[in-house]
Amino acid sequence: MSQPADTELIERARHAQQRSYAPYSQFRVGAALLLSDGRILEGCNFENASYGLAICAERNAVGGALAGGEAHDVGEAGFSIAAVAVVGKQGEPCFPCGACRQVLREFGCERVILEDGDTTRTYDFNTEILPHSFGPEAL
Ligand code: THU
Repeated sequence: MSQPADTELIERARHAQQRSYAPYSQFRVGAALLLSDGRILEGCNFENASYGLAICAERNAVGGALAGGEAHDVGEAGFSIAAVAVVGKQGEPCFPCGACRQVLREFGCERVILEDGDTTRTYDFNTEILPHSFGPEAL
């Protein structure tokens, strides 16, 4: 299967963003995971009147993939993430928060794709997003 263009992943993240529930921060986020087998899965942030319970779009996408059974046939360690695209404010890079970086790391995320003006930028996960990280193989 050919890999989707980064712009397609950004579009999928933008699609997911429409379903964001962010009445407290008004900061709507969408994420699209590209799994190593080519599937694309979406997530959005969702907040709570108990503010600290907000869940980011990236972690919602990962949880949705697991809950939806998407992880079932992609190896012992669960599924593997080739890339994640994240969108927040139009045209502004929305870097994953620290907690999401660690969660994405668990599933071997290789690249992060973000908007920057009217272009997309890609960041290498292990060298630019979460270098010297802690992961399952350390246990
Ligand atoms: N948020 C995300 O969805 N992803 C991130 O990586 C950064 C922050 C959400 C959480 C909260 O609902 C809102 O953005 C403001 O922090």
